[in-house]
Amino acid sequence: MTLDHAHAPAASSMPTPAERDPRMPRLTLSPGFIRSMQSGWGEADRTPRLPAGAAAAAAAHRGRLSEAMPGKRIAVAAGRAPMRANDNAYDFRADSDFLWLVGTMIEDAVLVLDPASGGHLATLYLPAPFRPGDDGFFSSALRGEMWVGGIPGLREYADALDLRTRPIEELTTDAGTLCAGASLAGSAPSAELARVLSELRMIKDDWEVAELRAAVDDTIDGFASTVAEIPQAIRFGGERWLQGTFDRHARTVGNGVGYTTIVGSGAHAPILHWVRADGPVDPEALLLLDMGVERNSGYTADVTRTFPASGQFTTVQRQVHDLVEKAHRAALAAVGPGREWSDFHVASMEVLAQGLHDWGLLDVSVDEAMSPDGQQHRRFIVCGVGHHLGIDVHDCASSSYAAYQGARMQEGMVLAVEPGLYFHAFDETVPPELRGIGVRLEDDVRVTASGTEVLSSALPIDADGIEAWMTGVSAG
Ligand code: GLY
Ligand code: MN
Ligand code: MN
Repeated sequence: MTLDHAHAPAASSMPTPAERDPRMPRLTLSPGFIRSMQSGWGEADRTPRLPAGAAAAAAAHRGRLSEAMPGKRIAVAAGRAPMRANDNAYDFRADSDFLWLVGTMIEDAVLVLDPASGGHLATLYLPAPFRPGDDGFFSSALRGEMWVGGIPGLREYADALDLRTRPIEELTTDAGTLCAGASLAGSAPSAELARVLSELRMIKDDWEVAELRAAVDDTIDGFASTVAEIPQAIRFGGERWLQGTFDRHARTVGNGVGYTTIVGSGAHAPILHWVRADGPVDPEALLLLDMGVERNSGYTADVTRTFPASGQFTTVQRQVHDLVEKAHRAALAAVGPGREWSDFHVASMEVLAQGLHDWGLLDVSVDEAMSPDGQQHRRFIVCGVGHHLGIDVHDCASSSYAAYQGARMQEGMVLAVEPGLYFHAFDETVPPELRGIGVRLEDDVRVTASGTEVLSSALPIDADGIEAWMTGVSAG
């Protein structure tokens, strides 16, 4: 849909601010029409759609950032949806640090923390929506309430977030006076600020854990909906049908997907990021589903299971699945407070390397493969076996090496653990019966005071359990 240009008079020679914004339609409107639009409007619903508890959690996060960067002026911008074509934008999804600090997605808003006695004064600068009485009410397809529905403004957000709000036009401070390279639109992003935020975000508070738990539960429901559609996808629609099934579920129960849904049937299962999902679903082959619901708060799950499309693993499919399950259990046993980050990676790789050696697929010893200069087993698993999980699927990625890969695990961390084995259809070094088999098991795990909680444990990880779960899904 676009504005009706046919009845608009020729544009005047001086562009208006709206015309200079590529997202704004270029048009002028007749004085009679403009006058007729000035009155007779009631109030739209302008209630901010805040996830429960988000405002308090965000306030606590701002407190932690304030303590970590005393005396620094900090700005974090929500960002803006990229344009797709002409005046059509992609869906907006706020910057993850902004979400952590504000609790909701507000396009073009900027959070500023000014040093003040006892810490910082937080101010949220945001664009005012166009409401009845403003020309933009009916002429702005971007922020006109007539075009996009009721929009919360400064007062509504101030009340809902318990945060000082000011019009974005007041944020005239040049970026140079902000904390070194703060991520204010138009200035260079600050690597230092990004690092500090990334490292603070590693430890999830109770509210964040509840959000992640809900994201995982929603995702498991989505696995059931998707697996129930396998017979349909075999008949018509293939991988894309299953991708669409999960995406619709995620968009219905949450904000959407936390990353592009991966659906790989047969030879596509070993392809790590098979997001194209444009193949058929082979009823005799394995089907790898890597899927995550992102909640409206931004927190996402990241779960993978590999299913036999027929409902029953073949002998060779089960053999590969069993080895990945063994590696997965070894990895889970190596997660816990005080453990080195690399422990679960090494634990699962040792199992995989031994299994590959037993099958004659390694032409070196397991010890040599596990040595830093060896790593021959990585031919069959080129990716890592885990990462932090939170508002981003690969959360906390701006952390220093010392705080991430070089650190010990702590209570409150949440991670995805995801060993797998990937035998590409065109890998001529493996026996033909293994070619085109890919298996990944991915669980979302919270580090507790004494060990771990597997948030995604409602989905089985063993071949028998997966077969039984599929039977339950198709019966239900
Ligand atoms: N789905 C992305 C990942 O597993 O890391
Ligand atoms: Mn994944
Ligand atoms: Mn992952």
